[in-house]
Amino acid sequence: MTGPSDNQKTWYITTPIYYVNGRPHIGSALTTVACDFLARYHRLKGEKVWFLTGTDEQATKVLEAAHKAGVAPQEFVDGLAADFKQTWKCFGISYDDFIRTTEPRHIAVVQEVFDRLKKSGDIYKDIYEGWYCVADETYFRDSDVITVGEEKLCPNPECRLPLRRMQEENYFFRLSAYGDRLLAHIEANPKFLEPHFRQNEVVSFIKQGLRDMSVARPGAEWGIRVKDDPKMSVYVWFDALINYLAATGWPNDMERFAELWPANVHAMGKEIYVRFHATLWPAMLMALGLELPKQVYGHGWWVDGEGKKSGKRTGGLPHPVEFAEKLAEVSGASVEIATDALRFLMIREMNFHGDTEYSYESFTKRYNSDLANDLGNLCNRSVTMLSKFFDGVVPVTSEVDRDIASIATTVVADYELALEEFRFHSALEAVWQLVGRMNRYIEERAPWKQAKAGETEALAITLSTCLEAIRIAAVLVQPIMPNASKALFAQIGIDIETSPTDWSRDAKWGLFPAGIAVPAPVPLFPRIQDTATDSSKSQNAPKPKNPNQEKRKLSEQITATEPAVEESTKSDVTTVEASESEVPKFISIDDFLKVELRVGNVIAAETIPKSDKLLKLTVEVAGENRTVLAGIAEMYQPEELVGRQVVVVANLAPRKMRGIESQGMLLAADTEGQAILLQPETRVPSGSRVR
Ligand code: MSP
Repeated sequence: MTGPSDNQKTWYITTPIYYVNGRPHIGSALTTVACDFLARYHRLKGEKVWFLTGTDEQATKVLEAAHKAGVAPQEFVDGLAADFKQTWKCFGISYDDFIRTTEPRHIAVVQEVFDRLKKSGDIYKDIYEGWYCVADETYFRDSDVITVGEEKLCPNPECRLPLRRMQEENYFFRLSAYGDRLLAHIEANPKFLEPHFRQNEVVSFIKQGLRDMSVARPGAEWGIRVKDDPKMSVYVWFDALINYLAATGWPNDMERFAELWPANVHAMGKEIYVRFHATLWPAMLMALGLELPKQVYGHGWWVDGEGKKSGKRTGGLPHPVEFAEKLAEVSGASVEIATDALRFLMIREMNFHGDTEYSYESFTKRYNSDLANDLGNLCNRSVTMLSKFFDGVVPVTSEVDRDIASIATTVVADYELALEEFRFHSALEAVWQLVGRMNRYIEERAPWKQAKAGETEALAITLSTCLEAIRIAAVLVQPIMPNASKALFAQIGIDIETSPTDWSRDAKWGLFPAGIAVPAPVPLFPRIQDTATDSSKSQNAPKPKNPNQEKRKLSEQITATEPAVEESTKSDVTTVEASESEVPKFISIDDFLKVELRVGNVIAAETIPKSDKLLKLTVEVAGENRTVLAGIAEMYQPEELVGRQVVVVANLAPRKMRGIESQGMLLAADTEGQAILLQPETRVPSGSRVR
């Protein structure tokens, strides 16, 4: 991506303008959040950014939606445009301009472009005969359409709606004249069409031969009129694309235009990429003698279970703000944090270069794993231990952990490259490489043991390394989760209001100020207890395990941390240990398969009064929380367990001890009577089966 640093021009990014025939959903929000991510990132890098979004209001389908709603079209579009603006505001979209195609500033530029191209001969009048799809707002030739009986259907496989026959006098744009110039431009500018594979689609589309395109026809009730031929109204795509130019002030404010144009990135979904943004629009700009945008980027879709695009026509995608409110409700997070979480989830879940199946469960599961568990716990554990071992004041250390420092440096470079290549999800994946590594680092360094052994310098290095990694993570997540980033900074004692982030200074390892005091920890992303609470979408929800399903047999022979103590005995025993002689030499695979071993996340841990061996843990397994009593108090402090993964015998019959029902037991290695918990080598989804 070329930024204004090259030529001191403003870095100008656009979303498509959204049809106001329905409310925004997480499909429309996807392009918008991705653009916001880039806009915020470039601002943090000190660049002057201009971020444009808006609404496409002159379409036939918008008029039809207004008729259906029984509302006058202008009133109808005013209402929906306000909904989009409000949604983006609640969703933290930092746009600089919002353009509506019913605004006079847009209409005037469309008319001006039309006029200029008529004068230059690029637009001419002729008879049009063919088919028109209202849903796609697209014209088709006889040879393109699908015939079913008497009916002609739209050739777009996503649409297939009946077409309308048209025969009338139209204005045409001489698109056919621009094929070779477009191909030459694409060849000379290998980064013009992104991601790269889309370039092939565009090239083969152009090589099939471009036809002149109908760009105005006898006007209906709605649409922009041709200036000196007012019975004709402009084709909605010709009108809509001009918004990118109209918002720059062209042709009246040429100074502002020079600052903004050419746009650095036009971003959009793949269905409006090839024909419109990568072919028609560049050809229109060539006809006007204007520079082409530096980059045109097309992403994949949210699809349903059958791979069909969700949302645009079929409905089925939630409204972004309503979804964020729901996340707040089920997690207990504030709406601001839940909104950020949803922004993160949309970007992290989507495979930007392909399509991604949308499901409520996958969003809530990732919320729990990436946000509540990985990032939230990293912060919580580190700050808790800093409070406990250093009274909340970051210690001065003589050295840093070089290994972690070099991981952080690689992560920043990977993140920057991913954004450069529009792999938004990979940028976040890179951040979680660091977050995951830090959670393992805590377990490896075991700061609670360092504290116990009085290794103050080593402990200081561990905790200041953790805080520095959290600071780097807070910088990196800032463009996608601005509220959560601010809260993360606050947790480590940094106020970004007084010291705003500067990417070139702050996205570097080693800046954490020693001596800073951190406040008491506050859980940033509270866990969602039931990740399948959306009843309409919960068919795939993990079924709660029935701990009574199978009788305890082989499980009794596994060394585990369940105390083999009944309520009545009132004494603590660390592990169930089958003595070597009791273990049969062989068991059948069927016997083994009766034991349901699952990975779970420890989400809470506490001591049990009057027991110096038992800890009471809350372990989340596939969305279900279980209480497990484990005889590990001698080896582990409760706070060091929160956030770690454990292996649970999930189908063990529940048993009561010290008045508490234990619903499973944990696997542990037994060394000299001490239980060392087993856990997967890398983090895996909660509920994963262990075999
Ligand atoms: N009005 C035109 C764009 C004109 S731009 C000059 C339009 N509008 S739209 O509202 O139908 O779509 C706008 C954007 O939302 C597109 O980038 C589209 O890909 C995106 N999405 C709509 N549904 C989507 C999904 N299900 N998944 C991902 N993005 C989707 O086309």
